[in-house]
Amino acid sequence: MAQEITHPLVKHHLSILRNKDTSNQQFRHSLRQLTGFVAVEATNELELEQYSVETPVQTTTGSRIAQRVGLVPILRAGIGMVEPVLELLPIAEVWHIGLYRDEETASPVSYYNKLIDGRAVDMAFVLDPMLATGGSACLACQALTDWGVKEIKMLSIIAAPEGIEHLGKEFPQVSVYTCAIDEMLNENKFIVPGLGDAGDRIFNTF
Ligand code: PRP
Repeated sequence: MAQEITHPLVKHHLSILRNKDTSNQQFRHSLRQLTGFVAVEATNELELEQYSVETPVQTTTGSRIAQRVGLVPILRAGIGMVEPVLELLPIAEVWHIGLYRDEETASPVSYYNKLIDGRAVDMAFVLDPMLATGGSACLACQALTDWGVKEIKMLSIIAAPEGIEHLGKEFPQVSVYTCAIDEMLNENKFIVPGLGDAGDRIFNTF
């Protein structure tokens, strides 16, 4: 299942990301805004528990998140999405996975995995601005499944139909939240129209 967020502010900020003349600072700013929208959707069904709250007037019933949620940014570009999700969900844990896409084969290569045995979270949010072939997302979901995570959500900014289909075939239970489902992948497996390489644009490493 893929959910495309169509809010006017999402379209506005997404266009800033797509523009090749956008500065790194503007890119990071709009990425933060967009990530907030994606996070609101992805957290929509988090479980709550009730607790007693003393207001200045009387006692009332409050609610708090009852699940252990882990944010799992895929290095590098996913790092740009961590802070805005933490703003909304400060109790989340952050666990890191490092993957890069081989330039020749477009297949993901794992170079870092800091998932500690025995400490799997209840729900994981995989953070990566781009879902292209879906290879990286699948490898991340496999690592999280092996770790013991029962519920996984994929938070992206742009996604190609091919990547959504690939992830859906391998992990049908993983929901995808994105700001845009783009047209397709080109012959180099880049998203079209896309926004270029999110990692390079966030970190100014062209
Ligand atoms: C990009 C992107 C995803 C991956 C998507 O990372 O941030 O992780 O490619 O492609 P896929 O769906 O075809 O696997 P990249 O390999 O450029 O690494 P970087 O974040 O270090 O730049």
